[in-house]
Amino acid sequence: MTKAFIVGHPIKHSRSPLIHGFWLKTHGIAGSYERIDVESVNFGDFLKSFHEQGFAGGNVTIPHKEAAFSGVARRTERAERLKAVNTVWIENGVLWGDNTDVLGFMTNLDLSLGTGWEQHVDNALILGAGGAARGIVAGLQDRSLKRIFIANRTIAKAEDIVRDFQRYSAVELVALAWDDLDSALGQSQLIVNTTSLGMAGQPPLNLDLAKAPGNAIVSDIVYVPLKTPLLAAAEAHGLRIVDGLGMLLHQAVPGFERWFGVRPEVTPDLRALIVADLESSK
Ligand code: ATR
Repeated sequence: MTKAFIVGHPIKHSRSPLIHGFWLKTHGIAGSYERIDVESVNFGDFLKSFHEQGFAGGNVTIPHKEAAFSGVARRTERAERLKAVNTVWIENGVLWGDNTDVLGFMTNLDLSLGTGWEQHVDNALILGAGGAARGIVAGLQDRSLKRIFIANRTIAKAEDIVRDFQRYSAVELVALAWDDLDSALGQSQLIVNTTSLGMAGQPPLNLDLAKAPGNAIVSDIVYVPLKTPLLAAAEAHGLRIVDGLGMLLHQAVPGFERWFGVRPEVTPDLRALIVADLESSK
């Protein structure tokens, strides 16, 4: 029996066990995917010993993604760029790390909007400059855009992203103060919220979407609630929206394939299962 895990602290609210459990069942695989709560002081030991404990690999989440990056022996190019690892596995006795958040966001965007969507997008505006924003900038900068604006309350963190990532592509990266985002809003055909604003229990993200281009696409990585105030406002303005659940579902695909050897699919049934769970835990 193949065993995988998700390790983090805290970990009880993670939806990943539901996603992987669904795939194990639909593919008839005798395997498991377990939540493991490990505090930071013990994470290094966990990473070294999970294989001896019978695990093929697993997901790593908050607050261990940077420690996992340092702790693995080999990393994919994506993980190198982000300096964060969310998926680990053993290959020929070597501990590998990948970051599948980027792929999750980009795959969901491509499937939701249809390939070629970039043809209608000159500039993108990313709100926030935390770990999630880094992944999204890394994914978007490999596409044929002109410019990516990164607006953050703490502008220094947006400037750090520009400094760290500009070397990887010719797409221009521009750091903006939160108060200066209006002009960027007017020229951005893709707007992505990566801040915690709009999440249940947090204040909403107030953007004047009347200033956005009429063909703008608005995306939110927050998925509790599924329709954030930002997405509701975007719909009210007749803009296309991409919600945050798709990214969560698609980031899980490469890990499952590594550990269990079958490439799973993100189906409407899987999405419905997670939506029902989100509804029931309101
Ligand atoms: P993650 O790794 O999930 O992206 P994070 O690193 O904690 O999480 O980043 C959270 C983001 O939300 C940051 O960009 C943060 O802005 P700061 O860098 O200025 O802290 C942003 N954020 C959180 N609360 C906010 C608020 N009330 N107003 C504006 N931005 C906020």
